Amino acid sequence: MIVESPLEIIFRDLFYRLRGFADGHDVFLKLEGFNVTGSIKVKTAIALVEDLEQRGIAKPNETVIIESSSGNLGIALSVVCAIKGYKFICVADPNVNRANIRGMEAYGAEVIIAEDRDSTGGFLESRFKVIDRILHSEPNAVWVNQYANIANKNAHAEQTANEIARQFDKVDWVFVGAGTTGTLGGTSERLRQVFPDIRVVGVEPVGSVTFGGAPKKRFIPGIGTSKRPELADLANPDQVIAIEEHRTVEACRSFVRDYHLLIGGSTGTVLAAVEQLATQFAPGDTIVAISADLGEKYLDTVYDPDWVERVMPEIRTPADALGE
Ligand SMILES: Cc1ncc(COP(=O)(O)O)c(C=O)c1O
Repeated sequence: MIVESPLEIIFRDLFYRLRGFADGHDVFLKLEGFNVTGSIKVKTAIALVEDLEQRGIAKPNETVIIESSSGNLGIALSVVCAIKGYKFICVADPNVNRANIRGMEAYGAEVIIAEDRDSTGGFLESRFKVIDRILHSEPNAVWVNQYANIANKNAHAEQTANEIARQFDKVDWVFVGAGTTGTLGGTSERLRQVFPDIRVVGVEPVGSVTFGGAPKKRFIPGIGTSKRPELADLANPDQVIAIEEHRTVEACRSFVRDYHLLIGGSTGTVLAAVEQLATQFAPGDTIVAISADLGEKYLDTVYDPDWVERVMPEIRTPADALGE
């Protein structure tokens, strides 16, 4: 495989067959963490910038692109903007890990941290306030707004969903983590056209408000929201499962032990939901789950017993939490 640009490094047909994962049923985990910048978000980033260009809104060497991101979209947009010749400003919050910030800066992005928690205990509203301030002070600035931008959803209908549809003759279940709900909306829309009987399960952490849950302080980035994203109106899952963050930690650690791949936090959340619904799977069902990223970025959080003990007191001891 020879590539001419890092943006071609996207593994579209990579599925890890998890033998007997859920009550004896195999589960196919679509691995997006080997893509350039380490997550599914490189597809979103390319699509968002190309959409601005097609609408005549963005011009290289002139436009400043702004986005709010917990890390993965931020680092993906950093690369896309560097390659295409845009200045990029990422508005993040204190939950974002240091390595992501360093990565964005290495690619030439400017990172601004919104420090104040908003009325729901999260940071999203505070991040939006920072974006608003920049839009008023920087005349060439454009906000891609992944939370409301239909190009986000369409990227996953055209890419992620079609990649799944190409791989399997039928899909009975698909499990998708929900942040902006772009992945959930896009994959459900397209996969329902191809497999009308599919059950689409949206997965979020307890404390996320996207599907009507009560807000609660959350610690694992990438999944869940403290303000319902506009795109959620198009997401339309058959079912939503909310997972407590300590179950995410347990799922990540037991997965590394049993399946030997260091998965990211949102993948642990998605896999906990798969396990929760295992009794509903029929023999022969094809079950697909999307893994948005890998675990290296979470070594100081999800995989750190001291961090887990500090932020998740419901787990009695780190050893309990980590299944050791
Ligand atoms: C690790 C991870 N998982 C899941 C998601 C959710 O994807 P989406 O924003 O398409 O809902 C994201 C989004 O940033 C993410 O970074």
